[in-house]
Amino acid sequence: MTEKVFLRPLPSALDEQSVVNHLPTVVESIRRNIAKIGERNPKIGTATHQWDYCDQFDWVSSFWTGELWLSYQMTGQEVFKNSAKLRKSYFANMLLDPFWLDHDLGFQYSLSCVADYKLTEDEESKMMALRAADHLIHRFRKIGGYIVAWNDTHPLGPEVTLGKSIIDSLQNTALLFWASEITGSPVYANAAKRHSETLAKHIVRDDFSTYHSFNFDPITQQPLKGETFQGYADDSCWARGQSWAIHGFAQTYLYTKDEQFLTLAKKLAKYATDHITDDGVPVWDYQLPSDEIQYKDSSAGAITAAGLLLIAQCIEDEQEAKMYREWGLYLLQGLMKQCDLTHDERAVGLLAHGASFVKVGLCDNMLPYGDYYYLEALMRANGYQNFFW
Ligand code: GLY
Repeated sequence: MTEKVFLRPLPSALDEQSVVNHLPTVVESIRRNIAKIGERNPKIGTATHQWDYCDQFDWVSSFWTGELWLSYQMTGQEVFKNSAKLRKSYFANMLLDPFWLDHDLGFQYSLSCVADYKLTEDEESKMMALRAADHLIHRFRKIGGYIVAWNDTHPLGPEVTLGKSIIDSLQNTALLFWASEITGSPVYANAAKRHSETLAKHIVRDDFSTYHSFNFDPITQQPLKGETFQGYADDSCWARGQSWAIHGFAQTYLYTKDEQFLTLAKKLAKYATDHITDDGVPVWDYQLPSDEIQYKDSSAGAITAAGLLLIAQCIEDEQEAKMYREWGLYLLQGLMKQCDLTHDERAVGLLAHGASFVKVGLCDNMLPYGDYYYLEALMRANGYQNFFW
């Protein structure tokens, strides 16, 4: 039994059935957009709810592909599979220039090649995903016990980035756990678990808020300090970062069955639900001063919802699980009421009001990762448990 962690009561009424019943509408919206999106990979929404598209190596390049594969898994309709398969050459080409690869290999290859292998037994995709896992494990620093997130070409400069771990990579470790399952070699899973332990120690604060990143000395590997890149301040709590941690540590629990990770995911979820505004859609940073513009981040809401529902699926105690499930549904209800675009036939994405990177002006857009996790969360709300993580 893990430690029980109680969440505050829901701020207002939940209509569970309407949330659960929304899944087919979302899948239909994805189907409707296949022809418009074609072979391109959505990057960020425009003011008219169209997409700007990814160049090569973009960390967001796989989320639309992930939506297609999940829709195929649910419906068996070839149109989803065929469109997802069209993207294989994009992911094959990316592996040809390892200089540009970074820790986001986990996002990129779990939702594309791992998904393809799991659903269609495509051997070529399996080998591509294993190759990606090999690149990812080379970023693991054995002395420091963490995965280096970015490359020396990052604007922060090599003296910082070569010793930098970031919270997002808790999602990327799924590729390593999968590689251990496929190859029978524990080295990938060991690195993934150690990375999670290191981040649990350094990136999570005593009150269960989180830093966006934690720096190590690139030479000695000594822990240095937490800081932010996309959050409001080094000591604030970037909402999407917190959501990566909630979903990521719950996922580490799924793979390792080590209860410390589930307990931690619950405490991080408690911090988030304690700080989410009562409308159920998070402001982009949980410690944003009240005199700043309170942009919402629907992607943080969707990832947190998926994480809460994943936690609920991991908890044995029925009453405790119900609390996490209801909070997950409540966040989905908030997204449905305030951000959902499925009623708009011209919109090529699912959710408005995502905050990609507020400090550079990307503060109110559709985001493909918001859309992907919205679908994942709605599927979890309907009892699905098979994903590509
Ligand atoms: N992985 C970067 C982000 O969450 O914006």
